[in-house]
Amino acid sequence: MPSSSIRWMSFHVYALALAFIVMLCVLLPLAKLAPTLGRSIDGADKREQRGRGHTSFVSQASTSQMPCKGPKLILHVGPPKTGTTALQEFLVKNAGWLQDQWGVSVGFHGREKAVGKNIAHPLTYVCNGNTAKIKSWGLSDEQVKQRLKEGFSYLQSKLNSSQLVLLSSEAFGRLFDNKSWLCFNSEIGADTCQTAVIFHRSSATWNAACWSEISKHDSSPQSFSSYLAEHVSVPVDKHGDSDVQLQQLNRLRLFARVIPVSYDYLKELNCSGAAFLICNASLGLTGKKWLQCRNSVNGRSTKLRNKSPPHAAIDVVRLARDFYEIKQALRVNTSGCKPWPIGFWSDDYMSKHPEIMTSVVPAVIQVAKQIPVKCERFAGLFQSETEKWFSRTGAKRPTSGGKDICTADVASFKPKHWQLIGKLAPDC
Ligand SMILES: *[C@@H]1O[C@H](CO)[C@@H](O)[C@H](O)[C@H]1NC(C)=O
Ligand SMILES: *[C@@H]1O[C@H](CO)[C@@H](O)[C@H](O)[C@H]1NC(C)=O
Ligand SMILES: *[C@@H]1O[C@H](CO)[C@@H](O)[C@H](O)[C@H]1NC(C)=O
Ligand SMILES: *[C@@H]1O[C@H](CO)[C@@H](O)[C@H](O)[C@H]1NC(C)=O
Ligand SMILES: *[C@@H]1O[C@H](CO)[C@@H](O)[C@H](O)[C@H]1NC(C)=O
Repeated sequence: MPSSSIRWMSFHVYALALAFIVMLCVLLPLAKLAPTLGRSIDGADKREQRGRGHTSFVSQASTSQMPCKGPKLILHVGPPKTGTTALQEFLVKNAGWLQDQWGVSVGFHGREKAVGKNIAHPLTYVCNGNTAKIKSWGLSDEQVKQRLKEGFSYLQSKLNSSQLVLLSSEAFGRLFDNKSWLCFNSEIGADTCQTAVIFHRSSATWNAACWSEISKHDSSPQSFSSYLAEHVSVPVDKHGDSDVQLQQLNRLRLFARVIPVSYDYLKELNCSGAAFLICNASLGLTGKKWLQCRNSVNGRSTKLRNKSPPHAAIDVVRLARDFYEIKQALRVNTSGCKPWPIGFWSDDYMSKHPEIMTSVVPAVIQVAKQIPVKCERFAGLFQSETEKWFSRTGAKRPTSGGKDICTADVASFKPKHWQLIGKLAPDC
């Protein structure tokens, strides 16, 4: 990629990729939803610790900066690829413990994506006329309204009985415009003090994660550089500014506080997203109490399930497909060639069709481990955008400049590497 276009890109890529994720998440099936373990499980095992001072945490937190008098609602709004699923899974599984131990209520239940399903998507349907997701779910008007009613009713019951309530969905960040926020606000009532929490991840690794996420299900994926280049062609807002949701939240003034936080900084601090949401954003703890809170939340956090394949595996699929196409082009009669099915495939479909070639296939991952890769730190590419974000928000910065992104180094390939890749392609 020419360096001039790279530099030009650096201003826009974050916004563009964010926009792309919107489309992506409409296209792709929802991540598999984990069955609920229910809030009832945790109630029992920590019963003996009940009442150990959580009321003092609550009062301390709610008097710290809040001018409003109602319960405090902390909304985590994403974006995707910042550990959101793990965080939501933590909240669902540990709702009872959070209530007992820290006096924090979780405003949704059942599944980790419940807020998207029961509040964010139905609300944008009813309030904004946004039909895409609802259509793909095949719900009637009445069913959507019923879902929304149930979602809000559960949230409202928590707001009625608790001083601190948490909601989490990347669908807020992705879908909500000012109209949606106003609709949301009128549902929960003006008394409620709202705090929004929005994450920021190093642009290079965030983009690589997004690239990886869409490529996982794609049997004809793009290279990382063309993925980046493609997003430059999508228009950005006229200020050239990227973090649209963060700016909107600040502009709207519906929130007592909007807290931007660096995902990479949290990692350096050994603080999970859940620990930040609970110990910092909700409870406002400091010193020893914060340490205790962080450690106990981290200790209960589950490992991330949504693990991405190595980046080089995406290149292996891409190169195997090129290889196959060249073979096909050299044939006079291609009727003997086995097809290469192209498309986005669900986990479910892929598990039933092992011949579908994507970067999650074990044979592909094996080859990815044997080919030469080049590792680059794309941080420079996004430097001005990153500078702008941290200076605008005042959020704490990570000390490291981000991770290397390793992709196939085709220039260093030897014949044996091409042979490994060629073996993956269907007979032709
Ligand atoms: C919450 O409280 C309000 C007023 O105090 C009441 O109208 C509403 O029915 C309650 N909602 C739930 C779900 O408990
Ligand atoms: C939302 O913002 C747009 C422009 O950003 C503006 O035209 C519109 O009037 C706003 N709507 C509301 C309900 O504030
Ligand atoms: C985070 O954990 C790692 C490994 O456990 C440790 O080396 C590092 O010092 C910790 N960092 C902080 C800020 O606690
Ligand atoms: C969370 O709170 C702790 C304790 O006050 C602080 O050290 C840490 O920097 C906070 N985290 C962030 C991201 O602000
Ligand atoms: C192509 O090969 C198949 C057998 O593999 C044969 O049946 C078919 O007639 C051939 N077509 C042409 C145009 O030669």
